[in-house]
Amino acid sequence: MDQLRTTDPEIAELIAKEARRQKSVLRMIPSENYASDAVLAATGSILANKYSEGYPSRRYYQGQENIDGVESLAQARARALFKAEHANVQPYSGSPANMAVYLGLLGKTGRVMGMDLAAGGHLTHGAKASFSGTYYEVVHYGLFRDSGLIDYQGARRLAREFKPQLIFTGASSYPRVIDFAAFAEIAREAGAHLVADISHISGLCISGDHPHPFPHVDVITTTTHKLLRGPRGGMILCREELAARLDKAVFPGLQGGPHNHATAAIAVALKEASGPEYAQYCHQVASNARALAQGLLERGFSLITGGTDNHLVLIDCGAKGLTGKALAVALEQAGIVGNANKIPFDPRPANDPSGLRLGTPALTTRGMKEPEMDLIAGLVAQVAASLGNAQALAHIKELAAELCSGFPAPGIHL
Ligand SMILES: Cc1ncc(COP(=O)(O)O)c(C=O)c1O
Repeated sequence: MDQLRTTDPEIAELIAKEARRQKSVLRMIPSENYASDAVLAATGSILANKYSEGYPSRRYYQGQENIDGVESLAQARARALFKAEHANVQPYSGSPANMAVYLGLLGKTGRVMGMDLAAGGHLTHGAKASFSGTYYEVVHYGLFRDSGLIDYQGARRLAREFKPQLIFTGASSYPRVIDFAAFAEIAREAGAHLVADISHISGLCISGDHPHPFPHVDVITTTTHKLLRGPRGGMILCREELAARLDKAVFPGLQGGPHNHATAAIAVALKEASGPEYAQYCHQVASNARALAQGLLERGFSLITGGTDNHLVLIDCGAKGLTGKALAVALEQAGIVGNANKIPFDPRPANDPSGLRLGTPALTTRGMKEPEMDLIAGLVAQVAASLGNAQALAHIKELAAELCSGFPAPGIHL
């Protein structure tokens, strides 16, 4: 940072301010976390200087004796951790990983079934606004209106009629277990490849807190920067028989040179995730989410599906007479950072939806446990009752900062 401060004081100052923010607020966006010092060291390393188009031992540039080692290690650790025959660790992020699956398994066009964005799916699962809904023919399965749970029978009926060639499972804001075995049956009947996008729940699949997608699915995709606590990146895991098609889709299909610094940091994160402490961390993430849900329910909040099985809760703010955006903004003023989110069958628009999404991965990395989750549920309730009251929100922000000060933020040294 000293060198950066000399060369570019403006950027150095913004980074320092962001570090202070990340340390002093309750970070509860479910897709965010704190990467370790080791992961950050690899991310900021000189590996960023090197071009390495291709794959280990099959490169288009010379000078790869160290880079091949880095990528091979990352691949081997990914294979071992996710029980996969093949791993591609080059996707620049989660969306490019999914894009490579479309390109590798379908080509330019094809029929896809994915979870509706409004029901909790991701943009890349066929939403109109993304490449996936623009270039591919898509149908969406969804949720039961009353329970908020995935309608597997509806998905089966849809697949029988539509005959998709590719089915995406996985979600960005679904708080319950996904039944990969049920989707495998649906895919088998339709003759479709089945993909599990476990970007949000990858850690829980490793620790056993969520059922593992293999052997039910053909392909797993995941980001590396959420629960996995790595750098920003993506991975594709699959059986050997699909490896060549998917590798070719990543490079040269969609990308050029891999981000070697990110690959190294992914390898470090995978090593960290292979120990018993990481499994313990994931158990705690899930346990904290349950405690948070319980604390919110006790304070009169309405939760989609009535609770959670994973790392996030989805609040229906309408039940408190609020919108998700209004509550998210007030929470931020009070030092609690979540995000406004659509709820199933939301009558409100995406930029001011009815829901608010809160998650436990980052706070659990700081060492917070069930008692802190109950405290936070109390703070969220105070915020919901204090909209527009700047003084009350400022007071809650002090309480949030005080709570944060008792729990170190990995990777942040002020
Ligand atoms: C389920 C799911 N898949 C894919 C992605 C895309 O990841 P990225 O933002 O790294 O492109 C996300 C991001 O939030 C996600 O939630």
